[in-house]
Amino acid sequence: MSMQTTTADEIQAREARHVLQTYRRAPITFVRGQGVRLYDADGREYLDLLSGIGVASLGHAHPGLARAIAEQAQTLIHTSNLFYHPFQGQLAERLAGLSGLPRAFFCNSGTEAVEACLKFARRYWYTRGEPRAEIVALEQSFHGRTFGALSVTADEHYRAPFAPLLAGIRFVPANRPTELLAAVSKATAAIIAEPIQGEGGVRPLTPAFAAAIMEASSKTGALVIADEVQSGLGRTGYPFYSAALGLRPHLVSVGKALGGGIAVGAALVSQEVADTISVGDHGSTYGGNLLACRAALCFLDELVDGGLLARIGRVGRHVEQRLRSMAAKHPLIKEARGTGLMWGLELTRDAGPIVQEGLVHGVIVNRTAENVVRLLPPLVITEPEVDEGLGRLDAAFRAVGAAA
Ligand SMILES: Cc1ncc(COP(=O)(O)O)c(C=O)c1O
Repeated sequence: MSMQTTTADEIQAREARHVLQTYRRAPITFVRGQGVRLYDADGREYLDLLSGIGVASLGHAHPGLARAIAEQAQTLIHTSNLFYHPFQGQLAERLAGLSGLPRAFFCNSGTEAVEACLKFARRYWYTRGEPRAEIVALEQSFHGRTFGALSVTADEHYRAPFAPLLAGIRFVPANRPTELLAAVSKATAAIIAEPIQGEGGVRPLTPAFAAAIMEASSKTGALVIADEVQSGLGRTGYPFYSAALGLRPHLVSVGKALGGGIAVGAALVSQEVADTISVGDHGSTYGGNLLACRAALCFLDELVDGGLLARIGRVGRHVEQRLRSMAAKHPLIKEARGTGLMWGLELTRDAGPIVQEGLVHGVIVNRTAENVVRLLPPLVITEPEVDEGLGRLDAAFRAVGAAA
């Protein structure tokens, strides 16, 4: 029953009857993947320049990751956080080495990682006996869909149906240092920011704004939370883009790329914050189980020891050159923004038709902030694969441009 073979039409009809309709899916049913390629139920091949929104970091069906997951599944998947297992400490140690933040709390998604950071920031001030409730967040931010993360997410479209959200959230425009400095006070528990705003349209923070965040923090004591769920763990060619900007966060949220497709997230915490957290303050049944940690350790092995991180800068510069020449050629493209393997093409109009036409030409990208085409390819992508994928995207631009 669980593996019945069905046609793509039957699959879609069954979902239409029984799956809560919160997503608008493209009418494609993927059945397998290999490296940067996905194959649909009719055997059509697509070059994946999105990696399941920044998750399939090692590409699809990566042999090392598949082996680690299979071996762990045959040994022990889950025991809960009531007991020790060999891998959680190893993973925390490796993340500490990359981030400089010595402690990790494990969860299962990006929104949970943000949620944990927000709770730990509140707890920090509570333990110090001077509770602070306010959080300063940025316009065009996206931090997730649970109530805390949604409260610091700017988009009214996501927020309005669920009001009231957390009180005491102040939004300031990104990259406007003066407005940030005016908004942060001794009532501010934390400032939360994505080093590159992903869902908001791939908008990097400027080093000057990062400096203002650090200045506001040192003047008021407000903690700094860097949400690196999308920009972290090699995506930009750096372990964490916050460090490249000059941010020194007290808390960092990670998710997406970490498990290569196995659900795992983490809040990385400074010792100063960790010292204010007690047993029982936070928890998760699944968080950091054996399977998730094995997958994440395999990803970090590839990223660091396997030389992936060292390569991403070079491949990213190649992507940049190709995108800039596409932008110069197609009047539809207003601007190419990003770094490493995180890019957005801002268009003069809705990006939906390009995404759809991309599928027709066998390339997967997505639309964010309405007029931005976003690219988050697997971190293992090579230069020839970039050329192939962007060649297909170029064909999609030509087709949409010709029809306009
Ligand atoms: C910066 C950022 N934070 C948090 C999230 C939420 O992650 P998840 O969908 O895994 O809950 C996302 C997801 O896109 C994100 O881009």
